[in-house]
Amino acid sequence: MDAAARAEEFRRRLDQAAEATEAALDSLLAPAPLADEITRPARLLEAMRYVSLGGGKRLRPFLVIESARLFGVEGASALRTACALEMIHCYSLAHDDLPAMDDDDLRRGRPTAHKAFDEATAILAGDGLLTYAFDVVADPATHPDASLRVSLVLALARAAGLGGMVGGQALDLAAETAATPLSQAETMQMQAMKTGALLRFAVDAGGILGGAAPAQKKALRRYGEALGAAFQIADDILDAEGDTAALGKRAGKDAERGKATLVSLLGLDAARTRCDQLVNEATTALAELGLGDATEILAEAARFVAARRN
Ligand code: IPE
Ligand code: IPE
Ligand code: MG
Ligand code: MG
Ligand code: MG
Repeated sequence: MDAAARAEEFRRRLDQAAEATEAALDSLLAPAPLADEITRPARLLEAMRYVSLGGGKRLRPFLVIESARLFGVEGASALRTACALEMIHCYSLAHDDLPAMDDDDLRRGRPTAHKAFDEATAILAGDGLLTYAFDVVADPATHPDASLRVSLVLALARAAGLGGMVGGQALDLAAETAATPLSQAETMQMQAMKTGALLRFAVDAGGILGGAAPAQKKALRRYGEALGAAFQIADDILDAEGDTAALGKRAGKDAERGKATLVSLLGLDAARTRCDQLVNEATTALAELGLGDATEILAEAARFVAARRN
């Protein structure tokens, strides 16, 4: 396959993952309560649907689905895990946009959750999605093997919580008002937490679902970490380049708020170079999986992360 054909194939599979994720999230967020739920309050459900449906690149679900597929796993196990991860991602965006955090009014081309509803509802919609994510993974419908489900729950909790995304968000906010700017190493650690951890989970999940060998799990981990770092640098570059319409979220906010980014530390050109190096690291790690051409789709995903316009 030449470069154009590879990019087209990636687009097709990303669209496929996005469609499947949208449909599965839509049915998970139906009005009828599940067993042992009492009722699903209409306004809260509406806000959870607003936050999680009808937008986003769905890159994390794609990564879960494609990394599981490497090991022959397809169907509900991967899709439900993908939905759980996307729920946590969407919750993190709704909370990230709150006035107490990044104070944004535009997300995925629409008003942010607290603008479309109200702050309390945006907070609760996030809480609801976070909790539901663990419900979905723990449910036997995700996998018949309870110990495998526990492995997924544990990995997801570690990625999403104190030492992962939530911790990273705390460091990101603290850096805005710190007396001295974060160093490059501190910035990269903060980003590995706030953004990298959930992306890393996406590919770790594929390895867990697929029963990957320890060496393969290591290689997936190296891919996920490099991809996650590249992803946030690209996000920071896109913010600095300032195309609000293409992004569907307000650009130019990072400099305004004094965010710690590699763009602010190194400038745009060096940040781009670092991002490209990380894409190379990601694709090199894939070779160590020993799965041949099957990993080409994940290599393309890494290239997409750096080249994307939104
Ligand atoms: C945005 O993530 C938040 C970051 C972690 C930088 P995405 O760029 O994946 O957002 P959506 O899901 O496509 O809207
Ligand atoms: C957000 O980073 C990371 C999480 C939501 C966990 P940003 O604050 O840079 O994300 P955007 O630019 O608002 O999407
Ligand atoms: Mg933020
Ligand atoms: Mg933000
Ligand atoms: Mg950003």
